[in-house]
Amino acid sequence: KVPPNLTNEAVKDFSFKDQKEWDLLRASITKFTDEATEIPLVIGGKKIFRTDTKTQVNPAKHSQVLANISQATQEDVLSAIEAAKSAKAKWASMPWTDRAAIFLKAADLISTKYRYDLLAATMLGQGKNVYQAEIDSIAELIDFFKYNAKYAEELYQQQPVATSPGVWNRAEYRPLEGFVYAVTPFNFTAIAANLFGAPALMGNTVVWKPSATAALSNYVLLSILEEAGLPAGVVNFIPGDPVEVTDIVLADKEFAALHFTGSTQVFKNLYAKISNNVAADVYRDYPRIVGETGGKNFHLIHSSASLDHAVLSSVRGAFEYQGQKCSALSRLYVPESIWPEFKQKFVETTTQIQIGNTSAPESLNAFMGPVIHEQSYNKLSAALEQAKSDPELEVIVGGSHDNSSGFFIQPTLIQTTNPNHEFLSKEFFGPILTVYVYPDSEYSEIIKSIDSVTQYGLTGSIFARDREAVRLAEENLRYAAGNFYINDKSTGAVVGQQWFGGARASGTNDKAGSGNILNRFVSVRNIKENF
Ligand code: ALA
Repeated sequence: KVPPNLTNEAVKDFSFKDQKEWDLLRASITKFTDEATEIPLVIGGKKIFRTDTKTQVNPAKHSQVLANISQATQEDVLSAIEAAKSAKAKWASMPWTDRAAIFLKAADLISTKYRYDLLAATMLGQGKNVYQAEIDSIAELIDFFKYNAKYAEELYQQQPVATSPGVWNRAEYRPLEGFVYAVTPFNFTAIAANLFGAPALMGNTVVWKPSATAALSNYVLLSILEEAGLPAGVVNFIPGDPVEVTDIVLADKEFAALHFTGSTQVFKNLYAKISNNVAADVYRDYPRIVGETGGKNFHLIHSSASLDHAVLSSVRGAFEYQGQKCSALSRLYVPESIWPEFKQKFVETTTQIQIGNTSAPESLNAFMGPVIHEQSYNKLSAALEQAKSDPELEVIVGGSHDNSSGFFIQPTLIQTTNPNHEFLSKEFFGPILTVYVYPDSEYSEIIKSIDSVTQYGLTGSIFARDREAVRLAEENLRYAAGNFYINDKSTGAVVGQQWFGGARASGTNDKAGSGNILNRFVSVRNIKENF
């Protein structure tokens, strides 16, 4: 039995009190910065190095190469698919508890032995400060492994509720017939772990294409799972060209599911390719498509809100991890009556934000680090320049950028006079927050605008003490956010507590951190036996 009364993994307090902890973290950082890591493909448990490599750099110091990532050839992708198929029968027929034990052991190894390595790899490669790395690569990741085991236990126990005399009805939770393709993002090491971990726990084998900008932490994680006893071929790690790899994987008859987190556009492309292949009878089954994509997440502030709380929550929601959480706040609605005070406090707080190389000894704890790569930097800096010349936009605080040593974008608040401006509908995925100041008397109208101005529906919050204001928002923003917060920021969903995901253009809303997601990776057989 999975231990009852699970609690979420405690987040360690990195407040410079315990010198030993910092020494261990610095030692892990030094290990990864002294020498670039050679990252192989891992296919059928074998490490394969290729001369064609792609570098992963530290986004806070782009001259620093962290890893040389072997790139999968077409044959490698085919081998990974074959390895997943060969490992399937044995893995699927194992008692599920034996599979769960591997993930629980990995969780234990992370907590006790590899904490600092996983933290350091996430901080360096993905540009996180120590706190952001801790809540992701340690706490959330461990939670996914533990809670998924608990949810699996509950799922496997669910049986038909009715019977008739002389009959035994039972449900058998078969893994999908075929293999699962996991396409994972840079922004959370934990999300990568869940994207391959949830299907694997349910007896599926996986072909895993990691993000090039998270390859270091992802490879460290895979090595930990191997040490925990993950059999060869269950998870096959194939970094490579996203389109090339994907096209080969999706062309296979036994492709059974996509488990994806990333951009809306890429997900749409994959969805369309899969649909075309379904129409052309490429597959045995209708593949399961599970995806979490973009967002344009909102805070709606009501005049009755606690001002200090709303300001601090908005600064944190928008700028923690440089606005690169899928759930990050990117549009803000503030009533005219409190705007002057709100603005003053927001600017005061934001100008105090420390931005730095979050993997350098002096700034491991800086509130903000770099954005992930040059492409993102270019997109965000172009948006800042547009804001400076667009008559409907005014930069309230921030607005500068600097890529001389790392990809740094200043935390920025932009005010717009147009409630339909594209800055309120388009996702930037960075520390750019747009505010629209609405007349207090138009609270109901602004709710309608929040709902309709964008195609997304991931996260959103209402800040109000007035219950009627809360009720109106909750009722009329039903599909505007799959994660709806009342008096809390739009980020920071905790596994097992706030099931995560949104609908509309934000994804299939299968809820990571809930038992629901596991249902997508099993195919139930009902057995009726007459005595
Ligand atoms: N689960 C993460 C959050 O809610 C993405 O911030």
